[in-house]
Amino acid sequence: MAKKSIWVFVLSALAALSLVGSEAVPADGVAEIPAGEKYVALTFDDGPRRGTTDRLLDGLKERGAKATFFLIGKQIGDNSDLVARMAEEGHQVGNHTWSHQGLEGVPAAVAAGEVERTEAALKALLSGEKYWLRPPYGQVTAGAEGNFDVPMVKWSVDPRDWESRDAEKVTQAILENVKPNSIILLHDIYPTSVDAALKIVDQLQEEGYWFVTVEELLWLNGVKPEAGEMYRTGKG
Ligand code: NI
Repeated sequence: MAKKSIWVFVLSALAALSLVGSEAVPADGVAEIPAGEKYVALTFDDGPRRGTTDRLLDGLKERGAKATFFLIGKQIGDNSDLVARMAEEGHQVGNHTWSHQGLEGVPAAVAAGEVERTEAALKALLSGEKYWLRPPYGQVTAGAEGNFDVPMVKWSVDPRDWESRDAEKVTQAILENVKPNSIILLHDIYPTSVDAALKIVDQLQEEGYWFVTVEELLWLNGVKPEAGEMYRTGKG
């Protein structure tokens, strides 16, 4: 279901590009986004959390915006309805370890266990194959990237929402720094971050931005996601 909707999206985007003019497609056939199209990816870490994640899903649905959720494995069981909803509503679901374990400087077996346990929970609940990884704090041990058999996602805009817990400050920090193809970091466990996210969607949609998942953002930029690679923006 989620996979299919991504392809429908990519194919319709490619069809739209072909109408724009042949200069949008370089000789190697990789589609570039025409200057007029602005795509951005909202990403939410540390959930799901009842009371905030569900309100966010309602708001995103109302606005036709897609996002990416990097989930803490041990929070999935009590919130499986919210996780199922994410997938059903076209959001990308990803892995943020089982217990928010940092993956830098820890034994490889510990890192693998934290990642695999969440992946197993997601596979049991949803029918997807691969769940992309956002390592807590955005880091894994240098040289160990290849230990993870999925693409990894960092970010390019960090409003430090966990620190200020102030919707207005978070909104401003994002609006000052966002560009086409930005990957924005937020946490759906704070009511203030949900408020900020929905304001950002309203404002940026008015400016012509489209909210897509990280996977869609990469494909739209002609980037083929690779396992063991860390992506910071839609440009890869
Ligand atoms: Ni986190």
